Amino acid sequence: MARITASVYTSHVPAIGAALDLGKTGEPYWQKVFSGYEFSKAWLKENTPDVIFLVYNDHATAFSLEMIPTFAIGCAAEFKPADEGWGPRPVPVVKGHPELAAHIAQSVIMDDFDLTIVNKMDVDHGLTVPLSLMCGQPSEWPCPVIPFAVNVVQYPVPSGRRCYQLGKAIRKAVESYDAPLKVQVWGTGGMSHQLQGPRAGLINREWDNAFLDRLIADPAGLSQMPHIDYVREAGSEGIELVMWLIARGALSDKPPKVAHRFYHVPASNTAVGHLILENQQ
Ligand code: DHB
Ligand code: FE
Repeated sequence: MARITASVYTSHVPAIGAALDLGKTGEPYWQKVFSGYEFSKAWLKENTPDVIFLVYNDHATAFSLEMIPTFAIGCAAEFKPADEGWGPRPVPVVKGHPELAAHIAQSVIMDDFDLTIVNKMDVDHGLTVPLSLMCGQPSEWPCPVIPFAVNVVQYPVPSGRRCYQLGKAIRKAVESYDAPLKVQVWGTGGMSHQLQGPRAGLINREWDNAFLDRLIADPAGLSQMPHIDYVREAGSEGIELVMWLIARGALSDKPPKVAHRFYHVPASNTAVGHLILENQQ
């Protein structure tokens, strides 16, 4: 059977992608950001899974106000990097895993989570920047990736509680797939940031670090936190953090091993947070 081996959590700031693509990683400003991922790149080489189930949000790129799925699972064979206004990022095409994606869709929908099935989709910085941070600049991504898009842009967005429960349903789905695949679940976006309005530029280090502590040690309690707390404490875009609860819910109920933890302010307008949690079966 397939199994979930680890979960990875990381911010997805688009300027990080631009820094990589424009060869600016050595600049002191960016060096501090990328230094937090040196361990992670080596860890991923040592612990390359067969499939990454990558939870992210689309930023009105593939979807728009015309159509907003709450949860959308990418079942296609490949996903191209999106043009977000400056041309597509020069990164590899993302290869999917249609068989496992279809199995997860079947299992999770039968567990009463209504997913949108997506058979054609371009992927924006929400998905490509976490891959770049963890993999560097390879000519191909190290394994197939199942994109799982969550609406955190247009309210009503899903609650942390629903995201956490969905993670558990994803675990059950993976563990019932009849092939010995190692699967990682990644939760991306966050941490504190607000991109517009009077509070633009908001960062909340204390709250972010308490979030990391609770994500590790008390995810069920953390999942009860209402939207208003995210928005008040972590800014309007801090709500992206509900996606981390999907990845956390996908781990077993035993305390995970914290393989890596990193926090850095700033990267563009955002507090960068990053965790690697290894599953204890
Ligand atoms: C920034 C962060 C984001 O999460 C995003 O989607 C766009 C921009 C930023 O910090 O610039
Ligand atoms: Fe974002």
